[in-house]
Amino acid sequence: MDSSIVTLRPFKLTDIDDFMLWAGDDQVTRSLRWKTFTSKEEALTFIKDVCITHPWRRSICIDDRSIGFISIFQGSGDDRCRADIGYGIAVKHWGQGVTTKAVKMALSEVFKDFPELVRLQAYVDVENKASQRVLEKAGFSREGLLRKYSYLKGQIKDLIVYSFLSTDPHVVDSEIHE
Ligand SMILES: CC(C)(COP(=O)(O)OP(=O)(O)OC[C@H]1O[C@@H](n2cnc3c(N)ncnc32)[C@H](O)[C@@H]1OP(=O)(O)O)[C@@H](O)C(=O)NCCC(=O)NCCS
Repeated sequence: MDSSIVTLRPFKLTDIDDFMLWAGDDQVTRSLRWKTFTSKEEALTFIKDVCITHPWRRSICIDDRSIGFISIFQGSGDDRCRADIGYGIAVKHWGQGVTTKAVKMALSEVFKDFPELVRLQAYVDVENKASQRVLEKAGFSREGLLRKYSYLKGQIKDLIVYSFLSTDPHVVDSEIHE
């Protein structure tokens, strides 16, 4: 796939049918704090009240059709220097470099959008090798293993913490193998 066709944009209510295709899939949501959407009504409310009002949540799109999401959530007060990143895409697009592309696009925008931000971080399940690889390909540093750190879908998890600082070099496409 030509990853240059991947775009990021805010969610729209008209994304609902495309949204259901991936947000309604357990394979996508099992590594996320999101529940799997089974009702279109509930998903519409979520797009309207959570995705659209979110400080920085973008739809990952191919041909302007929503195939996933990427979010940045900045801390407040003394934690405003850092933000968490999260993402997920439809199974049929896995393994084609789409999320790596989306993360790199987010990196080029968020430090401008949030001037006080100096650190972007991600907590990844030790078993989620694809997500770890995405962060490594996008230039994040692996900082360490946090043992029994958090519950995910009822199971306590060992998480790996990754970070990217505003001063870290941005990885250009030619430097990664997609
Ligand atoms: C994690 C996720 C976003 C990755 O998206 P993607 O678009 O497939 O990612 P990319 O294609 O950019 O890169 C995936 C990399 O992981 C590698 N990979 C995939 N499964 C792997 C595994 N089991 N072991 C090792 N590497 C693996 C791929 O080979 C690829 O690396 P490469 O380019 O060196 O070959 C996607 O699998 C997903 O949506 N998962 C569910 C939600 C999720 O886990 N979100 C992250 C929560 S922290």
